[in-house]
Amino acid sequence: MAVTLVDSHAARVALFVTGGIAAYKACEVLRGLQKEGCEVRVAMTRSACELVGPRTFEALSGHHVTLDLFDDETSPIPHIDLAEWADLALVAPATANAIAKMAHGIADDAVSTTLLACPCPVVVAPAMNVHMWQNLATVANVETLKARNYLIVGPESGRLACGETGAGKLASPEQIVSAALYRLRARGDLAGRRIVITAGPTHEPVDPVRYLSNASSGKMGYAIAAAAAAHGAHVTLVSGPVSLPEPAGVGVIHVTTASEMLDATQDAFATADAAILAAAVSDYRPDKAADHKLKKAAEPLDKIELAENPDILATISADRGDRIVVGFAAETDNLLQNAREKLARKGCDLIVANDVSREDSTFGADTNCVTIVSPHDEETLDCMPKEQVAEAIIERVHDLLEPDDDYLAPSSPDATLLMPKAGA
Ligand code: PMT
Repeated sequence: MAVTLVDSHAARVALFVTGGIAAYKACEVLRGLQKEGCEVRVAMTRSACELVGPRTFEALSGHHVTLDLFDDETSPIPHIDLAEWADLALVAPATANAIAKMAHGIADDAVSTTLLACPCPVVVAPAMNVHMWQNLATVANVETLKARNYLIVGPESGRLACGETGAGKLASPEQIVSAALYRLRARGDLAGRRIVITAGPTHEPVDPVRYLSNASSGKMGYAIAAAAAAHGAHVTLVSGPVSLPEPAGVGVIHVTTASEMLDATQDAFATADAAILAAAVSDYRPDKAADHKLKKAAEPLDKIELAENPDILATISADRGDRIVVGFAAETDNLLQNAREKLARKGCDLIVANDVSREDSTFGADTNCVTIVSPHDEETLDCMPKEQVAEAIIERVHDLLEPDDDYLAPSSPDATLLMPKAGA
């Protein structure tokens, strides 16, 4: 599933490949971005084409590669089309020449002209010889870009393609992808917010081959995680055993039992702004799980002693301070009355009440029919796909959080980490 980091479409990254030996690593960057749900289009300088063929990028991206300002059959004004399409411009590798052109507003080929026309944030991953990197001209150009809030990733120190050792090596593709996602997320209205989400069932072992559980598929919680990431939040999804693909751009912690889910949720919540608990946690577990497969004849299964599991929602809510906590209520009768009681008893900000006696609102269904209950109001939504329910929940959480607009300041610790380490 494509992650919608920006507005309602998959995040769009224009990848500018300039003529460094590391140009081949841009293929890995492209694949990494796609893995995170981004759509990528590529523009290359003529020098880059000497090092990697544009057809490689065309095949990988599934899009025409922009090479020329005038000789482009796909568009009469390719540089404006690409510049306006992109949510983020990523220059990787960025040569000293490309950096100098960006710093001075020079537009003499398709790459530099498109970059000058880009209204979106720009991430730059320099790669060059150590002396070129340390040259005062490059140092000044990089400072100019940083002052314009361009995010500079790397370069690393190490053995360079020219045989020298020092700063100038392209940052790893993983670092470059992280920097791109960081900047993309910084555009969302939950940028800088950390949200913990639980999803799926728990399995409570009876013996090595049997367990107590329920029919939760994880669809609701996974949809909430994807929606939160789409709004730019840093998301930790604590997932019980499900067979869903991990949502792009979301950190997933896999757990099995309620007690593991409690530990993982508490750990993640320690640094979070909000928690949304959509998991169907088993209320009970076998008091003692057998260490061998129980034999029906000798060890009857009809007398399993149960112990109560911890209530994750109540535990998290008791320790939340001014952080936001949202729980669910899965009910088959007295939906709203039970939901109101749960809201008061568990001490959370919102309860999402779903009537799981309905086929279109239950475990495993693709749709959900919910009422969002707060201490002040109740909002009943139409029955709709779980993705849309997730979006509505995230909007309510957003309203409660009142995002901090200063997060994007270039002086933020995360941004500083991505700044050049040497030579600048
Ligand atoms: O996963 P799907 O197939 O998409 O189905 C979605 C869903 C029906 C599982 C989901 O919409 C939902 O209702 N999740 C909560 C299910 C549930 O356990 O409801 P409950 O009313 O028993 O629990 C109330 C709240 O307390 C829930 O937020 C639950 O996560 C939490 N809880 C419950 C028990 C427990 N020991 N610890 C908890 O934290």
